[in-house]
Amino acid sequence: QTYAIIMAGGIGTRFWPFSRVSNPKQFHDVLGVGESMLQMTVNRFKKLCAPENIFIVTNSDYRDLVKQQIPYLSENQILCEPIGRNTAPAIAYAAYKINQINPKANIIVAPADHVILKQEAFEERIKKALAAASKSDVLITLGITPSRPDTNYGYIQYLEEGKELKKVKTFTEKPNLEIAQVFLESGDFVWNAGIFIWNVQSILKAFYEFLPEITEIFDEGIPVFNTDQEAAFINRAYSHCRNISIDYGIMEKANNVYMLPSNLGWSDLGTWNSLYAIGDKDAQGNVIDGEVMLYETTNCIVKTPKDRLVVVDGLNDFIIAEYDNVLMICPKQDEQRVKDFLADAKNKK
Ligand code: GDD
Ligand code: MG
Repeated sequence: QTYAIIMAGGIGTRFWPFSRVSNPKQFHDVLGVGESMLQMTVNRFKKLCAPENIFIVTNSDYRDLVKQQIPYLSENQILCEPIGRNTAPAIAYAAYKINQINPKANIIVAPADHVILKQEAFEERIKKALAAASKSDVLITLGITPSRPDTNYGYIQYLEEGKELKKVKTFTEKPNLEIAQVFLESGDFVWNAGIFIWNVQSILKAFYEFLPEITEIFDEGIPVFNTDQEAAFINRAYSHCRNISIDYGIMEKANNVYMLPSNLGWSDLGTWNSLYAIGDKDAQGNVIDGEVMLYETTNCIVKTPKDRLVVVDGLNDFIIAEYDNVLMICPKQDEQRVKDFLADAKNKK
């Protein structure tokens, strides 16, 4: 049986001021299509697993947002973390829980903030990966052909043999720009899409091997999950849990990682430039979402409230973003500084 774990606890700092701690990007209709990123993600799984097998791991602050947006989920399907400890603990929590429900479960892990344009290709790839993961002790990730030396991704080098599923030789999470450039030019690497497929026993085994300090905590746990006990246990567990992503914690280290090349029209809407990249551009290369008058302005991304008229003259390659009383104007090439702006803005309050 197939289960899905949707990771929806990030705060999307690189997407500030649009993404806020109180309302992160996965709960926004980022693309202007009438659905939030989370809703799009859940819908993507409709044909792959039963709705009662979908688990969303998020911060307890976002429980109500999740309930509002996906009303048919039961309490038991919203796994609430008291604090963000990155993706490894989030996945461990869900995997432990699913193991109690069904120790033979096959699991798809997916982020809540991706765009996938080719739904059919997505379903076909996931089914293929599930078929392999249900039979063997493998950790499968979907690989995307890289198009730029982006340092926000994991880079995967793989062995050529193997018809479809390729054995992973090296997994390098978020290399620096120089190394990303070398990886890109070599032509031997794909990006890690951040979508993983494995059976529950394989991922638990990997946790035992590579993050034993996390399994120690969860192993102490209550034998049967129920909402009250569960919350108390999780609060205690998370206060001891280290902060680490699944990529650094397991994917870089395990030697049973496989990659399925995937052409999905995929993008991680992690940053302003990634939204710019997939946005519809006007004749001057601007991506506009808002009431805007532009003069001698090219290759900008403008995302501003509809009730605000924005006039821009003479800007090239800028991000102009306003949300909830914060306006940011920043050269596109400086988008890595957005995190710093957010940190400084917090100090101002
Ligand atoms: N529940 C929970 N708790 N979810 C979290 C937490 C947490 O503490 N931290 C992050 N998430 C969620 C985010 O909301 C997102 O949906 C997903 O987990 C991935 O986290 P990101 O923070 O967006 O990761 P990333 O984009 O930097 O890197 C990952 O994705 C890339 C592709 O998009 C890695 O897997 C990279 O290797 C990969 O290339
Ligand atoms: Mg991301």
